[in-house]
Amino acid sequence: MRALLRFLVAPCVALLLWGAVPPAVHAEYGDVVINNYSDAAGMRPVVFPHWFHRVRFRCKVCHADLGFQFKAGGNQINMLKIIDGQFCGACHNGEIAWSAENCNLCHSGLPNTPTQVHESTLQKLATPAPAPAAAAAASAPARP
Ligand code: HEC
Ligand code: HEC
Ligand code: HEC
Repeated sequence: MRALLRFLVAPCVALLLWGAVPPAVHAEYGDVVINNYSDAAGMRPVVFPHWFHRVRFRCKVCHADLGFQFKAGGNQINMLKIIDGQFCGACHNGEIAWSAENCNLCHSGLPNTPTQVHESTLQKLATPAPAPAAAAAASAPARP
């Protein structure tokens, strides 16, 4: 009976996990570190809190209207463009959100952190897992 239960339960847990944590979630929930130019220019890399923005704006606002590519580091963003009202500067202009003078609020990454989708936010959101076994399994995949 125990063996049968385990036989039945394991695939269900696997299915649950698969359903709850598909690979795409990494892109959706993670903070994006943008460091195409920052380190080279002596600035800290930019940390873009994706989730924080997603709950406030529709995807379309940034990925269609403002032209952000769906790829970490996939946009050639620089401060001239931002001050000119493009990319982050469409909102961080002192009207919709605080202005570009607040360097450290965006350039907050640890020096030398490469461009990537950081998983810390995902980890936090993933913590309330359905069961301890699932939680252990969820934290199992090796991280870079
Ligand atoms: C609203 C967010 C934001 C603020 C505020 C901000 N930056 Fe940036 N900055 C960015 C982004 C995004 C990039 C592109 C990062 C990359 O690819 O490395 C960038 C890139 C840069 C770069 C490298 C490219 C270039 O334009 O030469 C420098 C230098 C820079 N910022 C300096 C500053 C300084 C100085 C301030 C404050 C006066 C500032 N930034 C404020 C978001 C911001
Ligand atoms: C406030 C602007 C903003 C909103 C709203 C927004 N995004 Fe993004 N998104 C970005 C930026 C900025 C990046 C990183 C681009 C870069 O690094 O140059 C990004 C990156 C991504 C990526 C690529 C991550 C990777 O793995 O490389 C995906 C996928 C994505 N967004 C999906 C979405 C979806 C889905 C929504 C709506 C539910 C959404 N975004 C809403 C600004 C936004
Ligand atoms: C569509 C509008 C929009 C765009 C585009 C946008 N932001 Fe924001 N951002 C906001 C708003 C609104 C806030 C909240 C401001 C406040 O609390 O006063 C915010 C807040 C932030 C915060 C602070 C988050 C916190 O925890 O308080 C950071 C960091 C930030 N933005 C970085 C960026 C960077 C970097 C980019 C470009 C890659 C960007 N934003 C593009 C609207 C935008």
